[in-house]
Amino acid sequence: MWGGRFSEGPSQVMEEINASIDFDRHLYAQDIAGSKAHCAMLMKQNIITQEDGNAILDGLDTIQQEIDAGSFTFNRSLEDIHMNIEARLTELIGEAAGRLHTARSRNDQVATDFKIWVRDAIDDLDESVKALQSVLIDIADQHTETILPGMTHLQLAQPITLGHHMLAYVEMFGRDRSRLSDCRKRLNECPLGSGALAGTAFPIDRQQTAQALGFDGPTANSLDSVSDRDFAVEFLAAGSLLAVHLSRMAEEIVLWCTDQFQFVRLSDSFSTGSSMMPQKRNPDAAELVRGKTGRVFSALMSLTTTLKGLPLAYSKDMQEDKEPVFDAAQTLKVCLLAMQGMLEGAKFNTAAMKAAANKGFVTATDFADWLVREKGMAFRDAHHVAGALVKKAEDKGCQLDQLSLEDIQAIAPAATDDVFSVLSVESSVNSRSSEGGTAPANVKKAVADARRRFLK
Ligand code: ARG
Repeated sequence: MWGGRFSEGPSQVMEEINASIDFDRHLYAQDIAGSKAHCAMLMKQNIITQEDGNAILDGLDTIQQEIDAGSFTFNRSLEDIHMNIEARLTELIGEAAGRLHTARSRNDQVATDFKIWVRDAIDDLDESVKALQSVLIDIADQHTETILPGMTHLQLAQPITLGHHMLAYVEMFGRDRSRLSDCRKRLNECPLGSGALAGTAFPIDRQQTAQALGFDGPTANSLDSVSDRDFAVEFLAAGSLLAVHLSRMAEEIVLWCTDQFQFVRLSDSFSTGSSMMPQKRNPDAAELVRGKTGRVFSALMSLTTTLKGLPLAYSKDMQEDKEPVFDAAQTLKVCLLAMQGMLEGAKFNTAAMKAAANKGFVTATDFADWLVREKGMAFRDAHHVAGALVKKAEDKGCQLDQLSLEDIQAIAPAATDDVFSVLSVESSVNSRSSEGGTAPANVKKAVADARRRFLK
């Protein structure tokens, strides 16, 4: 492609370090779309003839079919996807192919291809996150009244409803979608027409190409256009937080599948056995969702490190932008699908949850609140008294609602018979009806709100 200035070909090692075709072939559809838009614009501006332009457009269609069908031969000596396609175009249509690269550089070409690819990946991930939210909302809907112990420090804290627990993840994933959508909005300016870095002397129409490729408009500065990979960094940053959320949820599934918890049983299709211990039933998919998080974080670290020392404008370092993004996108996709599959087939053990909630004096706060509300005690004093009541129950080996009124009065003389109305886990969750609280009535409403906010 640049043979004019060179008398020797590249060394084997040069080809090895330089070639990107093994991974940037994933950009072929975006590259062809970009070339077609560019070609149509060159024709309209009379920069190339209709005849050459039509030959180019037909040739590009043929190449698209060849790659789709798997019959296209990629050649490493042609370096990257842009030159592989151009070389094939020359084979197909001859001399006219050489006119396609008028008023264009691979620098603005690759920036455009990559933006379209990331934009497509965002749209695809958004659908997958939405599908996961939908499963979580359905589970929440079925379990607005199912009680389990809520935890802080992984210690039993207060009773909550399973629906409330599921909707907590729906909120996280909602923020993930909003971050991806922000990233999409900011990236949607078209770099094509920036040339190598300085713009072009040809009378191009950047509005036309931007519009044809679904962008809101062209980028404002040609130097920035060819050196900007912020969109990829933002995508990986949003993806990393999505991975954090998936991993936290995966960790809970792993915990809940243990014999100690037994809160959930995954379907056979999402469990694995042990080759040695016949009794085992392992939540491998959840462990892998947790484990794959590192790949996504490392992609973010890799790309930010690649970019941080680069002067304007394009440097070949930037070719290293693609693999981390491709890998992160693919990783997130499979994790989302695995999480969705696990949850769709999961059986929740409501009896085990209830039994666990009835351990650990989880209504101690309710007792303290009752002393404040009904007996006018200061919360700090009530907290102290409730602590003493827990100690008493612990000594007696029973739960708070199994103590006698006399036992309670020995610690809180003001206590009256109606105290028992706040000591059960049911009354506890029912009473937590503040905005955003766990009460079944709230959760029922929150399910409807979530459907409206996230699934429409
Ligand atoms: N394969 C290159 C990349 O991915 C395309 C741009 C090459 N530009 C250049 N001036 N060598 O970054």
